Amino acid sequence: MRVKNKTFLVSGGASGLGEATVRMIVLNGGQAVIADLDSTKGEDLVAELGEAVTFVKTDVTNDEDAKSAVAHAVSHFQTLHGLINCAGVGIAKKVLGKRGLHGVETFQKVMQVNLIGTFSMIQHAAEVMKENEPNREGERGVIINTASVAAFDGQIGQAAYAASKGGVVSMTLPLARELSAFGIRVMSVAPGIFETPMFATLPEAAKQSLGQMTPFPNRLGHPKEYADLVQHIITNPMLNGEVIRLDGAIRMQMK
Ligand SMILES: NC(=O)c1ccc[n+]([C@@H]2O[C@H](COP(=O)([O-])OP(=O)(O)OC[C@H]3O[C@@H](n4cnc5c(N)ncnc54)[C@H](O)[C@@H]3O)[C@@H](O)[C@H]2O)c1
Repeated sequence: MRVKNKTFLVSGGASGLGEATVRMIVLNGGQAVIADLDSTKGEDLVAELGEAVTFVKTDVTNDEDAKSAVAHAVSHFQTLHGLINCAGVGIAKKVLGKRGLHGVETFQKVMQVNLIGTFSMIQHAAEVMKENEPNREGERGVIINTASVAAFDGQIGQAAYAASKGGVVSMTLPLARELSAFGIRVMSVAPGIFETPMFATLPEAAKQSLGQMTPFPNRLGHPKEYADLVQHIITNPMLNGEVIRLDGAIRMQMK
């Protein structure tokens, strides 16, 4: 599928990897719908990028919001061809912490946003995309999720985060198998460590040490490099049902 003249819904599109994806879509002549909790950053991006972009305030943990975001895409651009799930939260918390137990509520919050929120967006987007006119390849849509290398080598403190991203990894193949009947592909990307606002609050020394864990290139990833992979996945129809690590060969240590 080409990006040009196609409409893509980007959850978490107001910041970081999602924002870079929105910019990539616009640069390539597509339309982007930003579905994010952050209205300020979302509206700022619309003001900067112009009429190829629209914003809809969305909490992906609320299934009605997810449904409304998809409806907004269709009412604004009359169509929806792709969904890129970038909304997510990262937490680091030990099960047996100095100040008490991890807590089930924290675990549930992370699962709600990263895993169930991703699923919620997928079901509503797929329902609309299955009605698209197929292209010559028979393709009607593409879904790209954001997992993490933590799904494979989660560190101490990442039980909830790793479980949520492991869920994203595990649902990729069954979703791709089911939605293949409609010509909708499903892929996931598992990024290593990328320089986004999620990491902006870390001290410079911590950022450098994380960057140095990456064999090559020996630095944090740039959000554009994530968006470049998303662009390739959109355009290459043979990519389906797979999780791609985008990580400079990093294998996270215990802590
Ligand atoms: N940055 C990294 O190194 C890295 C590595 C691996 C995976 N990831 C994953 O990539 C995705 C994007 O992360 P990022 O680094 O760009 O972070 P970010 O904080 O820059 O962006 C995340 C966006 O998601 C939005 N969001 C959070 N909760 C939401 C909700 N309930 N509903 C709707 N929007 C919500 C935020 O408002 C924000 O705009 C996340 O899923 C994250 O887990 C990031």
